[in-house]
Amino acid sequence: MALRGTLTVPGDKSITHRAIILGALADGEATITNYCTGEDCLHTAQAFQAMGVSIDIGPERMKVVGKGLSSLQEPASIVDCGNSGTGIRLLAGVLAGQDFFSVLTGDDSTRRRPMGRVVGPLREMGALITGRRGGELAPLAITGTRLRGIKYRSPLVSAQVKSSVLLAGLFAKGTTSVTERALSRDHTERLLDYLGIPLTRHGLTVSLTGQRSFAAKDIVVAGDLSAAAFFLVGASLVPDSDVTIAGVGVNPTRTGILDVLRDMGARIDLVNPRVQAGEPVADLRVRSAPLHGIAIGPDRIPQTIDEFPILCVAAACAQGDTVISGAKELRVKESDRIATMATELRRMGAEVEERSDGMRIAGGRPLQGAVCQSHGDHRVAMSMTIAGLVASGETRVEDTACVATSFPEFDKKLRGLLTPSGQG
Ligand code: S3P
Repeated sequence: MALRGTLTVPGDKSITHRAIILGALADGEATITNYCTGEDCLHTAQAFQAMGVSIDIGPERMKVVGKGLSSLQEPASIVDCGNSGTGIRLLAGVLAGQDFFSVLTGDDSTRRRPMGRVVGPLREMGALITGRRGGELAPLAITGTRLRGIKYRSPLVSAQVKSSVLLAGLFAKGTTSVTERALSRDHTERLLDYLGIPLTRHGLTVSLTGQRSFAAKDIVVAGDLSAAAFFLVGASLVPDSDVTIAGVGVNPTRTGILDVLRDMGARIDLVNPRVQAGEPVADLRVRSAPLHGIAIGPDRIPQTIDEFPILCVAAACAQGDTVISGAKELRVKESDRIATMATELRRMGAEVEERSDGMRIAGGRPLQGAVCQSHGDHRVAMSMTIAGLVASGETRVEDTACVATSFPEFDKKLRGLLTPSGQG
């Protein structure tokens, strides 16, 4: 059945984490509207509640009462970041500069993910952090201390690393700067700028000076392009579809999915462009179109990083080969997304060759319905659900509770598009 209608998606997960963190450190009260209601961001909000910040979590708005940079209190227990790599890595940066002790942990997936990438630079700033395998794995125990600014050259293209160091820099003495090899998502920089925190950027280097207080400001969070991506691919693949997703963030550090899908032949229009809390936003209209395979090389990975699971589905249904390279980071996401997507698409009859830093997907073989596993990864679960729309016969995706980490209403929104009235 075609996908038709208009819908909204949850607020952007990356922006919501940052809005909560900076709201908690600001002076005064701020309302965060259209926040991401997924469990990942709720864990971040609960972390600050446990540190004495008043946060009122309503269905549509969050009210955060920040009491300034030096107001956090020692959490009485371990802080659980759940499934969120962003939550734990950004919080590590904040907690490194406090005058108290804290322990950060997460679920099984988070405790398998690399933490050395933030622990390393934070230690250079003077942070006292220990953890399993010398601080490579959570739980992380942090003895807050006085930090000093550093000039950090990041070996990875990672917004989590950049943001963790910059957030630590808010508490550090002197100037902290981060230089990247390529620009990772810049939501932290945009929000700091929106909140009036002086920040300089020279090419791929961003710098700030620590210990400067800032005033709270209301934040309207852009819709999450990573959530919209499932509908962009679904509507492209299912004949006769016509879907509009309203109010989606189109920050250029995130829009790789739009470029890649268009290069594959997708029909996507950006309508009504505007700016919300320093972030570009637009309505996205997508109509079905035949897709063809393409090569996606290293230069396109950072701005497309979270969309590979659903891009794999698009590639499996496109005509010809799609080759993804330079994407080793996919192996350390919520699951090893090269392995998990290869396994799940093969169950449906797709031809997928796994490579160390990517994969080759031979498109065009008709997908057959299957029983698929999420591997506890929300994006794998949603991607395989979309694959099920175009597969022959029935598809069942198991272990889908993880979808609630980013998009609790995914199912409902998808069903809304499949109904004749077409209202999501
Ligand atoms: C995120 C950055 C990306 C992305 C993740 C969210 C962020 O991770 O994959 O889902 O909000 O900073 P890396 O920074 O590890 O690339």
